Amino acid sequence: MVFSDQIRIRKVQETDLPAITDIYNDAIRHTTATFDTEQKTLDNRKQWLEQHSQKYPVVVAALNEKVIGWASLSKWSERAAYDDTAEISVYIHPDFRGKGIGRQLMQQVLHDGKKGGLHTVLSRITQGNEISIHLHKEMGFKIVGTLKQVGKKFGQLLDVTMMQKMY
Ligand SMILES: CC(C)(COP(=O)(O)OP(=O)(O)OC[C@H]1O[C@@H](n2cnc3c(N)ncnc32)[C@H](O)[C@@H]1OP(=O)(O)O)[C@@H](O)C(=O)NCCC(=O)NCCS
Repeated sequence: MVFSDQIRIRKVQETDLPAITDIYNDAIRHTTATFDTEQKTLDNRKQWLEQHSQKYPVVVAALNEKVIGWASLSKWSERAAYDDTAEISVYIHPDFRGKGIGRQLMQQVLHDGKKGGLHTVLSRITQGNEISIHLHKEMGFKIVGTLKQVGKKFGQLLDVTMMQKMY
């Protein structure tokens, strides 16, 4: 049993990277939530973390110092006019889903991104991920469109719902 007062939501540290990598690699292997198909190395995730900052934050959920979930706001595009736009990601260890941790992580990372000066946050959600759509709506995101059959994973062509939150 996990109680919410045992979960600590905090800013990421470099030592969290092995757990972040494991959680993401599990989602790559077993879900269509990400369209990555190749496992990520620790070095790759180090580079990913270096692209984040106060404006593009990463937060983690820790249970007794073990990282069980993470959320990030990543730069949407390298083109400078997009600088105040980010994309949200949120991944929870499979043993800890459905316990309110995704909700807490999203709240915190969106709060931090606003403080950092972002103007809007986008999200790409694969068809069928009703839990994610529900949570995004709760966080103030609205559906802005559907990209038809833009991905193929596990042999299936998949639509992507675009959601957007304005600060
Ligand atoms: C999606 C994910 C991040 C959600 O995090 P979580 O900690 O499991 O979610 P929470 O427990 O905070 O909240 C789940 C919510 O979905 C609701 N829910 C559960 N099943 C649902 C369904 N079939 N349809 C709609 N809502 C549903 C729950 O009631 C809860 O909402 P509530 O708090 O309003 O009652 C997590 O399940 C995950 O890591 N999934 C795999 C990766 C992924 O899909 N990431 C998102 C990519 S866009």
